Amino acid sequence: MKLAQRIQNVSGSLTLEITSRAKKLRQEGFDVINFAAGEPDFDTPEFIKEAAIKAIHDGFTKYTPSSGILELKSAISRKFKNENRLNYNPSQIVVSCGAKHSIYNLIQVLTESGDEVIIPSPYWVSYPEMVKLAEATAVILRAYPNENLKINISCLKQAITSKTKLLILNSPSNPTGVVYNPDELKEIAKVCIQNKILVISDEIYEHLIYDGQSYTSIASLGKEIYDLTITVNGVSKAFSMTGWRIGYLGASEEIACAVSKFQDHSTSNPTSISQKAAFAALEAKNSWLKKLCLEFEERRNLMLQCLDNISALSYIKPQGAFYVFSDISKLGLDSHTFVKRLLEEENVALIPGEGFGMENYVRLSFATSKDKIKLGMERIERWVKQLLKKS
Ligand SMILES: Cc1ncc(COP(=O)(O)O)c(C=O)c1O
Repeated sequence: MKLAQRIQNVSGSLTLEITSRAKKLRQEGFDVINFAAGEPDFDTPEFIKEAAIKAIHDGFTKYTPSSGILELKSAISRKFKNENRLNYNPSQIVVSCGAKHSIYNLIQVLTESGDEVIIPSPYWVSYPEMVKLAEATAVILRAYPNENLKINISCLKQAITSKTKLLILNSPSNPTGVVYNPDELKEIAKVCIQNKILVISDEIYEHLIYDGQSYTSIASLGKEIYDLTITVNGVSKAFSMTGWRIGYLGASEEIACAVSKFQDHSTSNPTSISQKAAFAALEAKNSWLKKLCLEFEERRNLMLQCLDNISALSYIKPQGAFYVFSDISKLGLDSHTFVKRLLEEENVALIPGEGFGMENYVRLSFATSKDKIKLGMERIERWVKQLLKKS
């Protein structure tokens, strides 16, 4: 049997590899500290669970329209308007099985063989693989530590060719946690408008933003960039709903219709019960998000304080999301070896930078308790000191 070339071209997930090694160690009785998590460690809030239970009891358990129920699309439309100053009618919104699914659908619908997609590094691991699955070409943008690994505008301009179709923008970023300010977004928008490049703006970490900053969606910066942008978001990270699988996009009606048609013939609707739960999450006027943000900010500060004690590990200060991207180049190990050895020798799980397109880095997630952060960082400090002594 020969598998299709399409899947043979795609790389396996390094994240999953590390997670399953960590799980195996834990099953063997080792006390593993998990700094590899890509999801909040909190349970989904009770009021959201109750909405889902009500949906089940009400018999809301059948197919819905592929692109989502009107009630949820209307709530998303209000969310875009109130929080992002974006006007997307319900007919411009498609609800999918997570933001990952929204982005996958978009890349399938917008690109094909011969098209180029610009992906700024360091990038979320799935973007280049999704581009390969669409048989388009990923063009990776280089980033510089002295610019906080943000998009370099000259590099962006140089990467553009007549084949460039799309730019994928992710703010706050996974893996660096950097957040683009309105001036930076304006510069990126200007280049995209001049060159008529579409933008997928992945805003999944929008609500996890620190130091009293406010969030700007690139599409809110004017009509021209609004027309070129597809805004993607979801409930996974903000409401601790990673398993419920609800993401969504706002786009032109033409693109929304195309994605909806694609979904008609692939997954159909996202789970009816999860749609009701997502509606409850988006409509709630409660303090959940504030509390979540505050807790993550405290955890970030603690992890950075601990990192400041390990001078061999420099880092980019994250302003959002729940990750710290740390430079390991002073230690003389590649990121994969660093992560494998740290897990085996000190039972701390991180993600190697290799998967994000940056070999000399590792990603530490602070989506875990403060006690675990302290313990894990003590282990890292001890291990790094030993490593430096031996070398
Ligand atoms: C940058 C980024 N975009 C999208 C996603 C996908 O989120 P969802 O759970 O909504 O599919 C993730 C999840 O880790 C992510 O880090």
